[in-house]
Amino acid sequence: MTDLFAGTDQPSVDLLGATLWPGWLAASAQKALVADLRDVAKRAPFQRYETPSGARMSVQMTAAGDVGWMTDRSGYRYAERHISGASWPDIPEAILNIWRATSGAARDPDSCLVNFYGEGARMGLHQDRDEANTTWPVVSISLGDDGLFRIGGQNRGDPTVSHWLKSGDVLVLSGAARLAYHGIDRIRFGSSGLLPDGGRLNITLRVAQ
Ligand code: SIN
Ligand code: FE2
Repeated sequence: MTDLFAGTDQPSVDLLGATLWPGWLAASAQKALVADLRDVAKRAPFQRYETPSGARMSVQMTAAGDVGWMTDRSGYRYAERHISGASWPDIPEAILNIWRATSGAARDPDSCLVNFYGEGARMGLHQDRDEANTTWPVVSISLGDDGLFRIGGQNRGDPTVSHWLKSGDVLVLSGAARLAYHGIDRIRFGSSGLLPDGGRLNITLRVAQ
């Protein structure tokens, strides 16, 4: 599989301390990942979760690994099972290999969140802080339509920068950027041919527990 990866010796872009490798995944690797995610979603179908305040998220989510991130009226958390009661599928090996090649972490992630953005979906600015130990990095993989990513500092009011994430991009939040506020303001629906019906997939790998 390694020939499908561009490798971390290619030029990276610094986004307020987060490291972006543009086009890290070759087109063939992107297609293989979509097939892997279809298998995950067959066993653990996508859901539109409710936030603690009762708002329905526009992004659809599922997960793989020991635990999967979810939210409902009782709060944000990592759950051991999909809402159906089934355990989460294993994290596909090709996805683990991306973490191993980019994160610099000495252990594998135990959780893989899969986000699907259809037309009009967005994700508000937030920190990833539901993990037991927030010093492990977060690795984020973009597939399909372009997504306008915004990142700031560790306080909500800090200045932000925006960058269009494209299919095949890999982004690592580590060090001071690990707890940076970030979100997706919008997607360019139909900008990529990777998903036949359009939309954007994002895979987020984390050490949750
Ligand atoms: C997230 O922060 O969970 C998703 C980020 C993205 O979709 O790129
Ligand atoms: Fe996040």
